[in-house]
Amino acid sequence: MTAELIARLAAILGPSGLVTDAADMAAYAIDWRRLFPGRPLCIARPASTAEVVAVVKACHAAGAAIVPQGGNTGLAGGAVPDASGAQVVLSLQRMNKVRDVDPVGLTIAADAGCILKVAQDAAADMGRLLPISLAAEGSATVGGVVSTNAGGVNVVRYGMARALVLGLEVVLADGTVVDLNRRLRKDNAGYDLKQLFIGTEGTLGIVTGAVLRLVPRPRHTVTALLSVPSPKAALDLLALAQDELGDTLSAFELMSGYSFDLLRRHLDLTPPIAAGDWFVLLEAGASLSGLREAAETALAAALENGTALDGVVAETGAQAAQLWALREHITDGEAREGKSMKHDVSVPIADVPAFLAAADIAIAQGAPGAKVNAFGHLGDGNIHYNVILGAGHDGAAINALVHDVVARFSGSISAEHGIGQYRVDELVRRRAPGEIALALALKHALDPDNRLNPGKVLPAPG
Ligand code: MLT
Ligand code: ZN
Repeated sequence: MTAELIARLAAILGPSGLVTDAADMAAYAIDWRRLFPGRPLCIARPASTAEVVAVVKACHAAGAAIVPQGGNTGLAGGAVPDASGAQVVLSLQRMNKVRDVDPVGLTIAADAGCILKVAQDAAADMGRLLPISLAAEGSATVGGVVSTNAGGVNVVRYGMARALVLGLEVVLADGTVVDLNRRLRKDNAGYDLKQLFIGTEGTLGIVTGAVLRLVPRPRHTVTALLSVPSPKAALDLLALAQDELGDTLSAFELMSGYSFDLLRRHLDLTPPIAAGDWFVLLEAGASLSGLREAAETALAAALENGTALDGVVAETGAQAAQLWALREHITDGEAREGKSMKHDVSVPIADVPAFLAAADIAIAQGAPGAKVNAFGHLGDGNIHYNVILGAGHDGAAINALVHDVVARFSGSISAEHGIGQYRVDELVRRRAPGEIALALALKHALDPDNRLNPGKVLPAPG
């Protein structure tokens, strides 16, 4: 049966579309953090939606499971196969074109495998902004961003990927193409079916194309880095920024002194301001003039009343990029420090300081000596509360400690990274049985044989 399926896929895809050699499959078999190694049967690399359909039908007939994969930059092991050697990885990488940019209708249509940065650049060439920005944007794909409902640093202004999706093209488990690829701003005709495929990580269908919303590109941007005495002060600064900058505020990131310590020790990166216990990187963008003055007034007020201890406003685009490099390299610095237990949590924004204090106490008591690298998207109430594991620390126990604190604040155990295979058990533990049962009913309706990305997001059907 396996040989038959491989032969069938080879006939559909041709020599450049099918990978079966173990060495060539290696890059598709494991996530970039090398935490979730798998063993695929083969890698199918279709070049068109028609080829995706043919691959899905062949797998359906052979009873083989499919693992859709974009840029393979996820943090939850959602795009890699299990170790059975029986799953087909369906890589969308060859479907990599921008289909169309409409600068007046403010839309971009792209293939699922189009690299996010390529789509951003195509929008920028037309003076428009695709307002989703992530550290992995040079390799993440449009389909991956949609399928995982990715977040990033601009959510505070533009929302998560879901808020940008106007249309989708999807291939279902039996090979049916559902063309929801409309570019309408308003479409209230019946169920909004595209929502089923956003953030469900390829478990209900394979996204093969998308239409995303663009915004006018702000002519002026202000980027500032400040040190603040505490998370509470950072929150006060957020309120001040909201008052003074309104909805021009497009990023509001919190980073701990320890995050900056990692940058200094492992990457030789230092902030251009006096050290502090906490740092905030904020950005605002607008086309009307006066933004810089408003930002400088706000920051002067913050320094004056002690909300901020020190700060710098970037004078040039290059300086802004240097400030962003600090933020974007934290994950890299953390990886060089050692093994860590990542937590991608959210709580109501106003509760972030109390959450951090409570989680620190839980770690100090339950895992003495463990270091916490806390940073993230304060403007969204989303903190990456990553715990560096020392000798003798039990990752699973630390996970439970942190998530127990999250539960006390009625928060989420996955704010933006998704569930993948990494957090399935935690999701089942933390969500009401009725919620899981509803998700399984949807899964059963769309993929009754559990062939699309089995083992991800949901527990095995009972
Ligand atoms: C980030 O915001 O940099 C990533 O989502 C966080 C991470 O690597 O944990
Ligand atoms: Zn993040």
